[in-house]
Amino acid sequence: MAIREIAQMGNPILYRTAEQVADPRDPEIARLANDMKDTLIHVGGSGIAAPQVFEGLALVVYRMSSRLISDTTEAPDPWIVLVNPVLTPTGDEMLSGWERCLSIPGLHGKVPRHAALRMRYQDLDGMDHSIDATGALATLLQHECDHLEGVLYPMRMPDLSKLEFNGSPGHLARDIADGEKVWPVLRDLVDAWPDRGQWFDD
Ligand code: NI
Repeated sequence: MAIREIAQMGNPILYRTAEQVADPRDPEIARLANDMKDTLIHVGGSGIAAPQVFEGLALVVYRMSSRLISDTTEAPDPWIVLVNPVLTPTGDEMLSGWERCLSIPGLHGKVPRHAALRMRYQDLDGMDHSIDATGALATLLQHECDHLEGVLYPMRMPDLSKLEFNGSPGHLARDIADGEKVWPVLRDLVDAWPDRGQWFDD
């Protein structure tokens, strides 16, 4: 078990295009994926891309965790390792939602994403897979695969007024008051906001 240091916004590694993994069955790749999983567990995250741990390779580890992603009480899905993932949007619909990133601690922002996509990837045995994703999974996959292209979520934001500190989540609180559904980890920010009552009645 090894917990890796996480690169923070501004580090050059986060703005480079990741290299394709030549051999998904290379034990070094499995070791790296395991370190990424350990790091996610340590920091309580749901997804991470290899450049975030200073490895410029097209590798992503994630899981859909009930606590992080949705209100369901089901056990988290198993960890998924994506080698050389390729995303293709299906349809033109875009949806905006709130996101956080392990490389941008202390901030959250509202980001437009494709509502639906198809993802092709390899697993650690070198087998090819294709899945269709919508909703929270589609958002997570676009966020993580953007890391492989050197893109951080603020670079996708058309309205930087929706980039805010976790300690003063005003626009996020407004959206929740308006009935927008957000991930529990984001709602927690608003619940923990001492000044909330000064600005919002509900
Ligand atoms: Ni991220």
